[in-house]
Amino acid sequence: MFFLLLISTGRAAITVYQANNQAAFSTAAGAKYTGVAAYNPTSLSPPPLPSPTVLTTIPINLENSGTPNLSIKQKGSFIGFSIEMSVTNQVLGKNSTLIQVPFLNLMANIQQRAGSVMVRVGGNTQESAKLVDDGVIPDGRVLTKNHTGVTGTTQTPPLEFSRDLLYMMRNISSFVNVHWFLGIPWFVTQPFDTKIITASQEILGDYLLGLQAGNEPDMYHIHGHRNDSYSPFDYGGEFSDLLTQVSATNADPSGKAMKLLIGPNIADFSWTPEQVWDSGFVDKFHDNLAFLAVEKYPRDNCAAMFGGPNAVVTDPQTILPYYLTHDAHTKLLAPYLNSTTYAQKVDKPFLMFETNTGSCGGFLGISDSFTAALWGLDYALEMAHSNFSGAMFHLGGQNVFYNATPPTNQSTFHQWTVGALYYSALVMAEVIGPSNNTQVINYGVGGLSSYTPIYNIYENGTPVRVAIFNYIDDPSGANTVHAVISLSGATMPSSVKVKYLAATTVVQKGGYTWAGQTFGKNFESDGRPMGQEDIKTINCDTTAKTCTVDVPAPGFALVFLNDDAFTEDKGAPPMTFPTTAHTKTHNTATVEPSVLATSNGFRKSIHELAGTSKPPSAAPRTAKSSLVALSVVFGAVVVILSRAM
Ligand SMILES: *[C@@H]1O[C@H](CO)[C@@H](O)[C@H](O)[C@H]1NC(C)=O
Ligand SMILES: *[C@@H]1O[C@H](CO)[C@@H](O)[C@H](O)[C@H]1NC(C)=O
Ligand SMILES: *[C@@H]1O[C@H](CO)[C@@H](O)[C@H](O)[C@H]1NC(C)=O
Ligand SMILES: *[C@@H]1O[C@H](CO)[C@@H](O)[C@H](O)[C@H]1NC(C)=O
Ligand SMILES: *[C@@H]1O[C@H](CO)[C@@H](O)[C@H](O)[C@H]1NC(C)=O
Ligand SMILES: *[C@@H]1O[C@H](CO)[C@@H](O)[C@H](O)[C@H]1NC(C)=O
Ligand SMILES: *[C@@H]1O[C@H](CO)[C@@H](O)[C@H](O)[C@H]1NC(C)=O
Repeated sequence: MFFLLLISTGRAAITVYQANNQAAFSTAAGAKYTGVAAYNPTSLSPPPLPSPTVLTTIPINLENSGTPNLSIKQKGSFIGFSIEMSVTNQVLGKNSTLIQVPFLNLMANIQQRAGSVMVRVGGNTQESAKLVDDGVIPDGRVLTKNHTGVTGTTQTPPLEFSRDLLYMMRNISSFVNVHWFLGIPWFVTQPFDTKIITASQEILGDYLLGLQAGNEPDMYHIHGHRNDSYSPFDYGGEFSDLLTQVSATNADPSGKAMKLLIGPNIADFSWTPEQVWDSGFVDKFHDNLAFLAVEKYPRDNCAAMFGGPNAVVTDPQTILPYYLTHDAHTKLLAPYLNSTTYAQKVDKPFLMFETNTGSCGGFLGISDSFTAALWGLDYALEMAHSNFSGAMFHLGGQNVFYNATPPTNQSTFHQWTVGALYYSALVMAEVIGPSNNTQVINYGVGGLSSYTPIYNIYENGTPVRVAIFNYIDDPSGANTVHAVISLSGATMPSSVKVKYLAATTVVQKGGYTWAGQTFGKNFESDGRPMGQEDIKTINCDTTAKTCTVDVPAPGFALVFLNDDAFTEDKGAPPMTFPTTAHTKTHNTATVEPSVLATSNGFRKSIHELAGTSKPPSAAPRTAKSSLVALSVVFGAVVVILSRAM
């Protein structure tokens, strides 16, 4: 069984409960890092330059209307976060009265651009999670692992959680517009444990987006939870049983939860999506299904995480180049195109419910470097182009490399480490924006290489933004992309504005910038962007009617074709949740001196982080009327949450 797990390349989505061995691939000379994976400083060497050389002067010929094959309409909340249920107490907060302020800030940044954020609480640990009575879990905690009940090859300890976990989620939604996914435990179906259905609908109300009906059921037989003959048909039978049982026990009194189910959530391990569709699943449960979903990782790092006989550990240096091409995404997503077409036909949004750079924790030097920021953004845009309706990037705790926002037991509120994929999510929110009317197309032009993907972004059929990647790592400048943008059917503007996602190399760890602002390196963030926002103005060639935008190698540029195309503060007013033990003013967060040193302008942050865009009025954004006092996790300080109204 264990061996099967190891050969399930790219398919297993396993969360780790023990130390991992990836540091064995430490490429840096000298001392070996012995701390937790999320903060391992080891970096890789950039891959060699493409040979032969690739097209770097790229014509982007836009049409003002009538562009065919645009994606379905997309939301700015396209990239959401999937938080392994067992680590919610590290990421969200300790309990409903001790919420992590950095988490609120990180979500608020996305809300500002997209209007809302999707967060899934679940993963493998949802399957054996038990909602226990109030008071059972000691010390005001919301969850605990029962280590006497450890089972299976994933060594997943059963999880016990209290209703207060749901109250914590609901409280978060009253600060930032986070909508939630949860999962129904599916290992045991006779009877199902339906407590989470009743409680989540009651507590989260309209903030409950959906309930997963099983997590990767096509892998159940691998871990001994079903026998080998378990099929999509059997899964459908269990789905039916759930509905019968919920109805018989009145577990969904409002009737709403049973219209929010998500299936089949397969990992494409032993069933194809088509096998599920062909089993009649969607026809039969059309009224119960709010979303169709799959889960997919490009590859796994299970051998490094779990070791064991025959374990062949992947060397991240050899696979780094796979994370720096667009073709990797098109290849990964090709098997789903039929399903996203099908989903449109049956009128259901189709989600990538759990994904990341690699399952079993990701890869040192890839998942935690600028590579992942570019990779995640290209992946998300390719999914948007491919008619997915959203994707959840998975966070799994300190023993993994792939976190968007690694939690830390060493952290106080201002000492989070913001991972590369968070930048992908932030930028994606801005690429799409909050209109719900945005369409995406992956731009193809003769001779375009896999190193320089381009997406054109449309509102109401008109191009508004252009997203240009350069995956190449070449400080010489020889591989800088020159994107020559032209527009037929309308007048080309005399200048365009550009924001860059930047780092000096693809293997850089932390300190990436988006339009000049950063969340710093390890332990430097309270979730607010630091530094002065820097938006470039590029003058166009009015004779040639073209605008040429340079994109460094490596880098990413978002080109705004007009001032209306800015989305940065259109989702919601900027909102920050500063923390202070001293005063009730809004901008006195306690900040490490090292952070201040890198954060030009930080102290003006409340709307400075909204950058050049003006606040809606001259008045400060911090409404005195809505100060909420909470206390901060891991510290007894009082926190003042100031909401900009
Ligand atoms: C996405 O859906 C739209 C609308 O149905 C369609 O025109 C387009 O070709 C689809 N894109 C892909 C990549 O399947
Ligand atoms: C949350 O934890 C704190 C500190 O342990 C405790 O004082 C508080 O009562 C807890 N809140 C809840 C709702 O249990
Ligand atoms: C922990 O798991 C064991 C084995 O499944 C079970 O017998 C025990 O009751 C559980 N403990 C608690 C506190 O739920
Ligand atoms: C948070 O949840 C608790 C329930 O534990 C509730 O009493 C409290 O009012 C909530 N706080 C906010 C700010 O919503
Ligand atoms: C596409 O999906 C439909 C519905 O499941 C299926 O009947 C068809 O065979 C699939 N086509 C391909 C090319 O896989
Ligand atoms: C944090 O966790 C790591 C690994 O789990 C442990 O070695 C370390 O002692 C912990 N630090 C604190 C301050 O609790
Ligand atoms: C976009 O859709 C969400 C619901 O998913 C809704 O709350 C929001 O108001 C919509 N935004 C616009 C601009 O229509």
